[in-house]
Amino acid sequence: MDHDEAGRPGGAGARGATDRADLAPGAARHLLGDKTALGEVDPRTIDPPYDAPGYRSSTRRSPRHPLLVLPPSVAERAGPLLGEGRVGPLDHDLTRQHPGEPIGERIVVEGRLSDGDGRPIAGQLIELWQANAAGRYAHHVDDHRAPLDPNFSGTGRCVTGPDGRYRFVTIRPGEYPWGNHHNAWRPAHLHFSVFGRAFVDRLVTQMYFPGDPLFAYDPIFNSVNDPIARQAMVAAFDLRLTEPAFALGYRFDIVVGGPRPTPLEDER
Ligand SMILES: [Fe+2]
Repeated sequence: MDHDEAGRPGGAGARGATDRADLAPGAARHLLGDKTALGEVDPRTIDPPYDAPGYRSSTRRSPRHPLLVLPPSVAERAGPLLGEGRVGPLDHDLTRQHPGEPIGERIVVEGRLSDGDGRPIAGQLIELWQANAAGRYAHHVDDHRAPLDPNFSGTGRCVTGPDGRYRFVTIRPGEYPWGNHHNAWRPAHLHFSVFGRAFVDRLVTQMYFPGDPLFAYDPIFNSVNDPIARQAMVAAFDLRLTEPAFALGYRFDIVVGGPRPTPLEDER
């Protein structure tokens, strides 16, 4: 697991997923076995670089030599297979995974997974992990002086429907400090993973909330150079997704490939 300078996890791992700190640098796109090309867009302006100078720990872990492309083996391509059969009925609802309700503002996060041509990508495992309302991950290395919530684990998953749609019910996460620089705080964010067909296809990104005052100060958010690409990581408040007297709704579409894809981390 990667940690930031303070030893805090950027993201307590979703079940069965690789634990990662916050937005890891990377530029490769290789989802769903499709090897989707970026077309006319320079990928260096979309995905964050391996070495983003403002993001201190990325410098230490960025590769010193050109990467070698190793063709995935049959075993890597073939398994494990994670799909609908392994997703429980409440896995998408992070507010109902414990005996009591978690503290915080309930939100609905819904979106569509599509390719660059707008075609839905169905049957994909989407995982979500996040801090609680106080800005603390339910993970043993998170030593932020904020309370844990016994009714909130901060992990969820679901499978996209035939129209590529997914839906989570959760708690709006709190901002949290990290040790990148003096008085560094992460904007509120959700970590997302799209599993693809196997581990080698897995892609990870982050969703932010509109209007966050911390955007300008966050080197991870700003490691994505393209301002339009950065905007693709910011969810849209959507009144149609709200549930009256229950939860506000946010829309976060994830686009893989094409001229305006969602910026992605590189898990390789
Ligand atoms: Fe995080």
